[in-house]
Amino acid sequence: MMSAETTDPTSQSNYRQISTKHFSLDWSIDFHEKVIKGSITHELSVHTSDIKEVIFDTSDVVIKRVYVEGESCDAQYSLGEKHEVMGSALYIPLPAGLQPGSSVKVTIEYNTTEPGCKALQWLDKAQTHGKTHPYLFSQCQPIYARGLLPCQDTPSVKATYEARITSVLPALMSAIRVSPPAEGPVHDGKIVGEDEVTYVYNQPVPIPSYLIAIASGNLCYHAFDKLEGKDWTSGVWAEPDIINDAWWEFKEDTTRFLAAEEELVGMPYKFGVYDLLVLPPAFPYGGMENACLTFVTPTLLTGDRTLVDVVVHEITHSYFGNGITHADASHFWLNEGWTTYIERLLQQILHSPAHRGFSFLSGSKDLYDALKFYEQRNKKYQKLQIEFEKGENPDDAYSSVPYDKGANFLLHIERTLGGLDVFLPYMKDYVKTFIGKSITTEMWKDHLFGYYTRFGGEDELEALKSIDWDAWLFGTGVTLPVPMEYDMTLAQQSYKLAERWSKTKDISEFSAADISGMDANQICAFLERLQSFDPLPVAHIDALGDLYGLVKSHNAELRLRFYEVALLDPKSVKSELYATAALSWIVGEEDGMVKGRMKFCRPMFRAAFSVNKAIAQDKYQEHKSSFHPIARDLIEQDIELTKGHGTNV
Ligand code: BES
Ligand code: ZN
Repeated sequence: MMSAETTDPTSQSNYRQISTKHFSLDWSIDFHEKVIKGSITHELSVHTSDIKEVIFDTSDVVIKRVYVEGESCDAQYSLGEKHEVMGSALYIPLPAGLQPGSSVKVTIEYNTTEPGCKALQWLDKAQTHGKTHPYLFSQCQPIYARGLLPCQDTPSVKATYEARITSVLPALMSAIRVSPPAEGPVHDGKIVGEDEVTYVYNQPVPIPSYLIAIASGNLCYHAFDKLEGKDWTSGVWAEPDIINDAWWEFKEDTTRFLAAEEELVGMPYKFGVYDLLVLPPAFPYGGMENACLTFVTPTLLTGDRTLVDVVVHEITHSYFGNGITHADASHFWLNEGWTTYIERLLQQILHSPAHRGFSFLSGSKDLYDALKFYEQRNKKYQKLQIEFEKGENPDDAYSSVPYDKGANFLLHIERTLGGLDVFLPYMKDYVKTFIGKSITTEMWKDHLFGYYTRFGGEDELEALKSIDWDAWLFGTGVTLPVPMEYDMTLAQQSYKLAERWSKTKDISEFSAADISGMDANQICAFLERLQSFDPLPVAHIDALGDLYGLVKSHNAELRLRFYEVALLDPKSVKSELYATAALSWIVGEEDGMVKGRMKFCRPMFRAAFSVNKAIAQDKYQEHKSSFHPIARDLIEQDIELTKGHGTNV
């Protein structure tokens, strides 16, 4: 399945001529050598005549053997020179005379490599929660799947798959488990860490390559209560010592929000299983919406359910991203902008309109920071729709822009059209029209106009025409094309408190009671607001950290914001002390847990770097191996150990 419009700037594959419709994996995981060995068989559909070869994306894989329709092709295939971003194209000649509409089968035997493969992180025992077994997990988005398997690594191609994985530790994939059963004895009753078990998976819904995922470690499962009338199941996977905490944190909201999502978009969840996997602390993202199996950072386990919005976000991708998929990196905002918009709408439906406003407000600080960051570096990345050059790294453009500019754009359209009553029926039609497809911004916009041409009145068409499309899609600068207003109810207390801190000279006027009744997100809003004023005097910073328990907080969102406040003035007399403390927290000197989520580690390394370059560089070098290969690349650019292109978190 593929979209008809574009050629993906980040892929060398010839997916417009021929594309994978199904693939089978036969893998074994070798924890000693830190490689996956095995094969992939692609079933490809031919789209054009005169096709001579199939080209796959690969990166740092070792190709052993290639078969076309079962015949060895070892003498004929070739691996192109390695491109720094796109990797090496694998060229496999095909028999002459293949007609459009026909199929062809290609098998590749190969190994992943270590180091080299950026899709995989191999953790030693000490880097896990339980510290008893090693661990492996993948991160394929945006373009790392090619290091895990030779494939057409573009979201324009969607394929079904099946997999057999042999491992001495329980193995999970972004698919439905066929055997052994998820709810049966752990590791099929065999000895975890010693006995090999073959796990079988099947993904009957076509998915893009970036949603392929694998994890293997000392993992167990705890189901959530089944909702009546639903044919999907949901539960959480984690290492045994955190499984109960993980289950408690997510058991109320996961199924409730997924059911609310189905209701809102007017379509049942298609993937059969919605499981969460709580990863070790090195996981570089907050959440990743891998098919059937959302990966989440363990920093969500705060014991108070205040960070479940990350799960709501990933649930929303089930439709916006995993269902309707961006055709390529230029249209990434369709995934994240829609998801953020709908995630916040769910907050409104399940909580209150004030919660929706509060989320937009929190996002606006990140958006402004990102736009300001790119103002100095690469203004192109301030745009919603980005024209990538061939081979440009989409990770360079990763920021809040697609999320928050995108969500605000949709909110602006909603409001211009006259509100949710007018907008939601369109949203449902959008999902119905494009589910299962990969689309461009143009296709999205054509459908929007088409919908209101068919079902709307003159007013709605006029409203759509009044929108400054170019400014929203291609505009640069540090503000939104239209100033947006949000419900401020939940931010009021935070903003007042921030103002008091910025004005009050005598710190004895503050006490722990100032934040009573505020939840962690409101305290975050307070700390973010504080950053918009002049840096606080050192005595204030010390008092702030102590009084509100921020300097020791186990909530990483709070800790991050506290250190941001403390490091706002890199020249203050205590900035070196705070920079050292912040990095010590990040690398896990305090609690044995690295804070590998890039949202935390990158700003902290950057802030420490602006205080004292050596503090940041030395601490990083010492703990480099704790970080994920993708995080390593980006931190190294941030603290000028390698030359980058101007990236942001
Ligand atoms: N799909 C993204 C994560 C991602 C994007 C990974 C691009 C690699 C490349 C995921 O859905 C996401 O947005 N995660 C956020 C969650 C947040 C916005 C609630 C994160 O990790 O911070
Ligand atoms: Zn997302």
